[in-house]
Amino acid sequence: MSLKRILSGMRPTGKLHLGNLHGALQNWIDLQNSGKYECFYFVADWHAITSEYSSTENIKENIINMVIAWVSAGLDPQKSTLFVQSAVKEHAELFLLLSMITPLAWLERNPTYKEMKAELSNKDLSTFGFLGYPVLQAADIIMYKAYGVPVGIDQLPHVELTREIARRFNFLYKEIFPVPEPLLTSVPKLLGIDGRKMSKSYDNSIYIGDRGKVLQHKISSMFTDPQRMRKSDPGNPEICNVFTFHGLYSSQEKVKEIDIECRKAGIGCTDCKKMLAKRVAEELNPVHERMDYYMSHMDEINSIIEEGNKKARKIAQQTMNEVRAAVNI
Ligand code: TRP
Ligand code: SF4
Repeated sequence: MSLKRILSGMRPTGKLHLGNLHGALQNWIDLQNSGKYECFYFVADWHAITSEYSSTENIKENIINMVIAWVSAGLDPQKSTLFVQSAVKEHAELFLLLSMITPLAWLERNPTYKEMKAELSNKDLSTFGFLGYPVLQAADIIMYKAYGVPVGIDQLPHVELTREIARRFNFLYKEIFPVPEPLLTSVPKLLGIDGRKMSKSYDNSIYIGDRGKVLQHKISSMFTDPQRMRKSDPGNPEICNVFTFHGLYSSQEKVKEIDIECRKAGIGCTDCKKMLAKRVAEELNPVHERMDYYMSHMDEINSIIEEGNKKARKIAQQTMNEVRAAVNI
């Protein structure tokens, strides 16, 4: 029996933070370890260029660092195929052919497109490439005839568009592509240290690679329950980001204890954060050790990527043979 194939990608726009780790990446690792799927995970470097086209100087470094973070966190190249989008040129060819059959209106009404354009108003995103972002994503997905696409809720419109594009191709030419299912990832709501959404652009992130003094300092400066001014005031863990982190890093008993003690001012925020900092450091320690290892064994990372690229390319070449035949080109 062959396993169902799933595929997902991440844009290499910088260091991964704990939001990325507990959102997408941990889910990828769990899917890999479930043994139920054949997993393809890739670095979407062309997608990164859609918005970062004016500053591409760090992209190579970002790709490598992203793969280092993946394998250090638990993606296993023996189990999952890890590759880089731009190394599989077939993605560009399929993107081009899909762009021929995708109505402009489908792209213009895409809510993610409108939102991102408004959010990144400091960049000029009135480009052909940015509008076509979901067409490239559709090519990524259907190239591998993926059954499922693990994504966060923000990516649902893109998977929906992929489904429509796949159906349109099948209708116009030949039934080649399965229509992929979104596999929704539930993302724990981790905020940045200032209480806003954790984001590189807000400079409020705790990165997977943070350790020692940097890590301790970030955790000690985390916003807590804003109503709790003094240690003698009772707190409300429900609205405290530190408590959310404890939920991910501390034992159930510890979490319960903090919940009770916080509400009756039996524990102060400084101590609560110290406990958290200790747990996060313990948890990230093995990840950091692996990161250090790979940093000094770049050849291993390069061969992981090269192997993955080869496997991906083989499938992409087969698909493109079918596609060219169907399109009569
Ligand atoms: N757009 C996705 C994101 O920003 C990245 C991505 C590109 C992707 N191609 C994909 C995700 C294919 C899933 C499948 O997160
Ligand atoms: Fe948050 Fe802990 Fe302070 Fe309670 S004691 S408000 S859970 S940091």
